[in-house]
Amino acid sequence: MIPHSRPMLDEEEILNLSNVIRSGQISLGGEVLRFEEMMAGFIGLNGAAATNSGTSALHLALLSLNIGDDDEVAAPSYTCTAILNAINYVNAAPLLIDIDPDTFNIDLNDLKNRITKRTKAIIVPHMFGLPADIEDIVTLGIPVIEDCAQAIGATYKERQVGGFGYLSIYSFYATKVIATGEGGMILSDSKRALEKIRDLKEYDKKDIYSPCFNYKMTDIQAALGISQLNKLPLFIEKRKGIADRYAQSFKDIPITLPARYSDRRHIFYRFVIKTRGNTDEYLRLLEGKGISCQRPVYLPLNNYLKLDGFPGTYEVWNKAISIPIYPGLSDDEIKMIIDVVRDVFTR
Ligand SMILES: Cc1ncc(COP(=O)(O)O)c(C=O)c1O
Repeated sequence: MIPHSRPMLDEEEILNLSNVIRSGQISLGGEVLRFEEMMAGFIGLNGAAATNSGTSALHLALLSLNIGDDDEVAAPSYTCTAILNAINYVNAAPLLIDIDPDTFNIDLNDLKNRITKRTKAIIVPHMFGLPADIEDIVTLGIPVIEDCAQAIGATYKERQVGGFGYLSIYSFYATKVIATGEGGMILSDSKRALEKIRDLKEYDKKDIYSPCFNYKMTDIQAALGISQLNKLPLFIEKRKGIADRYAQSFKDIPITLPARYSDRRHIFYRFVIKTRGNTDEYLRLLEGKGISCQRPVYLPLNNYLKLDGFPGTYEVWNKAISIPIYPGLSDDEIKMIIDVVRDVFTR
């Protein structure tokens, strides 16, 4: 069975991890600081605060904006549940926005129609590695948290995503583009926001008590992150190469291929196609032939909240299938995926 995701780890990660273990400094230390600096440099921002997950990064990002009761936080309905969790952690009201069924990203017009005076932040994930309409979204004048959990290295008009919003967050979960097992980060140009975030993610040695969290990254995770970040350009090249092969091989079969736009660079965290038939049946057939594919979002957030009025989300959820794409796929595996997908969709 070809798995849906697989991290790309080699001797370099083993060596970096051994060095951390030998040093005896396995909690937050120099490696975390180095990883933070490298990430801020890569995106082109002033500073970074590493966390133990993307979810905790989202939570701290909302807290740094003083979001709380009576505030609304806008987010797309077709995305990871972690976003809904973070909004609930701070007791804010989720304001769900439909998506554009071509890009799978938040729909700018629906966002403009739904925001209110209570909307205090917009969380904008760049879904599956394709940048959202971030330039237009930031002009709305509401603080934007860019969610780059799936899009590190993607660019919008030649600029790295993550550098447009007030803050940006990242996830380094095992299936992500760069992987540390679990892990996350917040980046920003705002010294004040980062100071508050650093204060909130540690609970020890405080003169005055206020509730804090233990959301720290360890040097073990950071050692992995550093070597993964060094390989990011290579990872993205490989992902794009596989995406080009898939697009070429699937152009004559009855599926809809991922959209591409000349003003933004897709990093193909996921290669998501849309079916024109019974998606569950296709998933079963692909699995039966040894390819583990998935609905890329398990359930839309509006389903959890029992809300109607999200036609773009509904269309995509009904039709989307994510096909394995990662730098560790061998040439034989890529050929097998191409053959099986062609076979299943031209039956
Ligand atoms: C868009 C998005 N945001 C946030 C997260 C949460 O990251 P983590 O799993 O590291 O908490 C994910 C993870 O899947 C994600 O895809």
